[in-house]
Amino acid sequence: MGILYEKLIRPVLFLQDPEKAHDSGIAVLRLVREWGALCRIMERWNLVRTQKPIELFGLTFPNAVGLAAGMDKNGVCWQAGAAFGFGHVEIGTITFQKQPGNPRPRVFRYPKEEAIINRLGFNNEGAPTVAERLAKYSRRHKRRQMLLGINIGKSKTVPLENAAEDYLASFRLLADFADYFTINISSPNTPGLRKLQDKELLRGFLGPLIEAKKDRAQKMGESAIPMLVKIAPDLSFRQIDYILEVITELGFDGVVATNTTTQFPPALNNIAETGGLSGKPLEKRSTQIVKYINNATEGKMPIIGVGGIHDVESASRKMDAGARLIQIYTGFVYRGPFTPKVIARGLANRNAEWV
Ligand code: FNR
Repeated sequence: MGILYEKLIRPVLFLQDPEKAHDSGIAVLRLVREWGALCRIMERWNLVRTQKPIELFGLTFPNAVGLAAGMDKNGVCWQAGAAFGFGHVEIGTITFQKQPGNPRPRVFRYPKEEAIINRLGFNNEGAPTVAERLAKYSRRHKRRQMLLGINIGKSKTVPLENAAEDYLASFRLLADFADYFTINISSPNTPGLRKLQDKELLRGFLGPLIEAKKDRAQKMGESAIPMLVKIAPDLSFRQIDYILEVITELGFDGVVATNTTTQFPPALNNIAETGGLSGKPLEKRSTQIVKYINNATEGKMPIIGVGGIHDVESASRKMDAGARLIQIYTGFVYRGPFTPKVIARGLANRNAEWV
């Protein structure tokens, strides 16, 4: 199936502008989602389940492979993820305010490098609309095996000093639907956003979010929703140390490492496009960061490893570095829709406890 995709489907898909091709992909996923019987059959075939389920932040993941944020920004087709083998899907980034993102073109493919550069800038329909969509779905459906992460970010027009309130507004609207939340402070395409990772802003910004999740849990009499922070690959180890110190102290549940990079490899140094680079060229750096976090926290901080995963070997390198779960985006685009199943099964063969 992978060969079929790479030789026949991908060349046709890649004739389209990257964003149009993305929209076509979303349309297919929506179709699968809407065709309930097909979706369930595909799920039965493709959703690899571990013999011993992965228990992490109080949740049970059917397998280690997730869809990274950015593919289903508005929560329109995530339900189809399990049909292709994903054990979890992270939707978003969702901002409180609906926003169009940056002018087009803003997504660029580099097939030789199996890379993408994007400067989308959090184009999304806004938390109120997405919350309404998720509410409609959850009224009609019972619980699923595949888990849903919701990734939230800062609305572009909101100044950094008011960021916490902006994230909180999204958290409050979306909390009923999330299995876990990711606080995105690492997109390179919202001006100033990465400053939230700095010493001066980090603690004051993250504190209220943790308080809000604890208050909600107390009010609802439920266990608190796990909350993770997604970091950039362009941080120094000293900056990472500080982030780890703050999130450990505040009680965050994990780290998603990493987002896209603004540091391009020599092969892409001469290109004119700006934005965040993902795919194969990001693999080494993001794996280094996973390893660093794992060592620095003696394995106590759960890590979702993301960046350049495209096959079983690259997924294994993230797991060996200390990731407890992995996510893919660019590998899904280049290697095809059954990549998650192939990776989940490959990890199964590598590890006796997988089926
Ligand atoms: C992304 N990514 C991303 N991340 C995020 O937290 N919020 C987002 O909205 C987006 N949007 C987005 C759009 C596009 C077109 C791409 C390619 C990527 C980053 C993504 O989730 C992931 O962290 C990186 O792409 C690295 O993983 P891969 O792509 O190398 O597997």
